[in-house]
Amino acid sequence: MTTLPPTAKPQLSSFITYSPGKPAAEVKKEFGLTDVLKLASNENACGMSPLAREAILEVLDGSYWYPDTNCTELVDKIARRNAVPSEWVICGNGAVELIYYVAQCFLNSHDEVVTGEPSFSAYTIASRIQDATIKAAPLVNYRYDLDGLRRKITGKTKLVFIANPNNPTGTHLTFGEIAAFARKLPPYVLLVLDEAYHDFVQDPDYRGTLRLLREGRNVLILRSLSKCLGLAGLRIGYAIGQPDTIRTIRQVQVPFHVNLLAQRAAHAGLDDLDHVTRTVQMVHREKELLYIGFGERGFEFARSETNFIWVKVDVDSRQLFEKMLQEGVIIRPGAGFGAPDHVRITIGLPDQNLRVLEVLTRAVTALEKV
Ligand SMILES: Cc1ncc(COP(=O)(O)O)c(C=O)c1O
Repeated sequence: MTTLPPTAKPQLSSFITYSPGKPAAEVKKEFGLTDVLKLASNENACGMSPLAREAILEVLDGSYWYPDTNCTELVDKIARRNAVPSEWVICGNGAVELIYYVAQCFLNSHDEVVTGEPSFSAYTIASRIQDATIKAAPLVNYRYDLDGLRRKITGKTKLVFIANPNNPTGTHLTFGEIAAFARKLPPYVLLVLDEAYHDFVQDPDYRGTLRLLREGRNVLILRSLSKCLGLAGLRIGYAIGQPDTIRTIRQVQVPFHVNLLAQRAAHAGLDDLDHVTRTVQMVHREKELLYIGFGERGFEFARSETNFIWVKVDVDSRQLFEKMLQEGVIIRPGAGFGAPDHVRITIGLPDQNLRVLEVLTRAVTALEKV
């Protein structure tokens, strides 16, 4: 429990706030290191899209202008790409902002939100701020359990959040599974399908959720440009939904919430298929090598459709995290996700992955001896 002023909303003192990956600068300062490797926040190891970078430099001097508050050109481009009307699209200051907007728009005190656990903590935090109640169904075999979610739905359920693929496990559900679930939902429930890692998914049966929108289902699809385009530091994501849902979200959007550079970078970056291909190919290649490395060292892991891997380490993940920090490697301990014997590791470049395997193995061995 946090102590807050007595006039603060009571629900604010009763939940844990979002905990981001530890910044490299902090680790450098704390441990006096110069060479720190951060594989904790699922950023793009190949860097940012070169086309996005060029676009930023072109508009940089115009940064004294306010940006277009409705991101009109970018919205139109995303709409064309997805063959939907522009009224179905809204951009956000990262996909995460849209999660907070959805909670703000649709939740009153004591409404219920259904999701899986462990999953992306922003669903719970954004909902708790609105004083809603979380009904979380545990994952089964590292995957969202749709039957479990269905059993949690009541007359009070307003939102269902599904991360597909899921963070932190990297596992996914097929379009068939999602469609069967969506088609049976009561119409008063908005299904938020968070597809932040959509570009990385290799399973040919994954894609197709736009079809649910075209059928008129109460669905909102979220996508992030932080990952494949490498724009995490600029903050840009988008949502595609029914026009009345999008109109509702626009009611609460903060004026000028998506900055000028992010809008231009995203607009240009969406044409950068080379960068997306390079990123995805690197991630897929390295993922297989990491699987081999984890397997050889006896670590169980979940097969991932993202740019990170969820690994069972059988030691205390916070101690492991601390030990690895001393060697300048930042990973994400599973304890924050309620899984104290797991860690989440972002897939890096080949030499970075070798380093993480080496440091992880050494740290686990040392902790096993204690
Ligand atoms: C499942 C999931 N959704 C949304 C986000 C947020 O993405 P953005 O950087 O666009 O806010 C993340 C970021 O890690 C995520 O893992």
